Amino acid sequence: MDKLRIIGGRALAGEVRVSGAKNAALPILCAALLTEKPLALDNVPRLMDVRTMAKLLAQMGVEVGAQNDGRMELQAKGIKEPVAGYEMVKTMRASVLVLGPLLARCGRARVSLPGGCAIGARPVDQHVKGLQAMGADITVERGYMNAAAKRLRGARIAMDMVTVTGTENLMMAATLAAGTTLLENAAREPEVVDLANCLRSMGAKIDGAGTDTIRVEGVASLAGAKHRVMPDRIETGTYLAAVAATGGKVRLTEAAPDTLEATIEKLREAGAKITACGSEITIEMTGRPRSVSLTTAPYPGFPTDMQAQLMALDCVGQGTGTITETIFENRFMHALELQRLGADIAVHGNTAVVHGVERLQGATVMATDLRASASLVVAGLVAQGETLIDRIYHLDRGYEGLEHKLAGLGARIARVR
Ligand code: UD1
Repeated sequence: MDKLRIIGGRALAGEVRVSGAKNAALPILCAALLTEKPLALDNVPRLMDVRTMAKLLAQMGVEVGAQNDGRMELQAKGIKEPVAGYEMVKTMRASVLVLGPLLARCGRARVSLPGGCAIGARPVDQHVKGLQAMGADITVERGYMNAAAKRLRGARIAMDMVTVTGTENLMMAATLAAGTTLLENAAREPEVVDLANCLRSMGAKIDGAGTDTIRVEGVASLAGAKHRVMPDRIETGTYLAAVAATGGKVRLTEAAPDTLEATIEKLREAGAKITACGSEITIEMTGRPRSVSLTTAPYPGFPTDMQAQLMALDCVGQGTGTITETIFENRFMHALELQRLGADIAVHGNTAVVHGVERLQGATVMATDLRASASLVVAGLVAQGETLIDRIYHLDRGYEGLEHKLAGLGARIARVR
């Protein structure tokens, strides 16, 4: 199994291009199910999760073109099998995003329940409740959701909590429903907006994406479209956190600074100088960071997907940072691994108190999920000596060319087998 070897202690410098957003690309790939016409995408990141989604769609009969320089074309002329099996859904929970589009287009779908995952229970009850409100008949049998509806009809759906993929699933389903759907307490994440923009180019009638109430007027059919996937704000934030930890000066290009305000604010509080101009962000950091405290929240709050990276920063901060996780239970597994590098972290329930230490020492650590892995990379870059990160397949799910991008900034990092 591949590992990452990092020799820490070197400041980062140079320029790095931000990739397309994984969490925008995944729902947008599923949007191809809503039309028999081609959907031509650009800026699709080369990631394991994208390959998994492409494979899942191909299994259903979608023609998926080769991914070439960020471009990818999909066409769902006919759908043979509106089924997402356990083998796929268990490796990637976002597979559940096929449920809404399949039901809207084919009138039936069979999708495995995702089951537990490393960062908590993560149920899909809101997806199911919303589709039921739109007239779907959904039964759960032997770990599968079996859904059927002649034609979904518009409904007013008030979600019990803010769910990103839940909002996306219901928004996609509503585009082909009869009548108007109102999604209340909708997720305001930029990736929801990017999906809405893609659906609108396909002819969907959607208002309010980016606010907590989304209104979708169903249409009889959708057309093909071209769409460029938005920049990955979490990848961007991860590189910014790395520079804040190691020091140095880095320019990020093809980014979307306006989607990163909560992260940028925290990194400024930690002492980083960050300027944004158009699609470029420059970060400059000297000296040891100041510890920061934060609480994760749905957008525009501080993203749970950046929590682990900021914890890594706090590990070497001056002072004490308190980190509270409100989105996912059990999302502190990285704390134990960071402790192996010499971090001083006390976890009490959903709060971690991090006392900054002057230096971390390299060690062998294990990645437990995608963003936890990213935090180990940030910590490894600043730790003295060699850090060996095991199970980096998690990183390959969500970071395009991570070790090449970091090596390009002067980090001593290599993939070893
Ligand atoms: C998405 C992101 C993930 C990010 C998360 C929160 C994708 C592919 N993944 O995940 O990277 O960490 O948003 O920003 O976009 N919940 C329920 N019932 C439901 C749905 C959710 O109880 O039906 C709960 C979850 O257990 C969790 C919270 O709601 O506690 C938020 O989850 P959600 O926003 O749905 O996360 P994902 O969409 O899976």
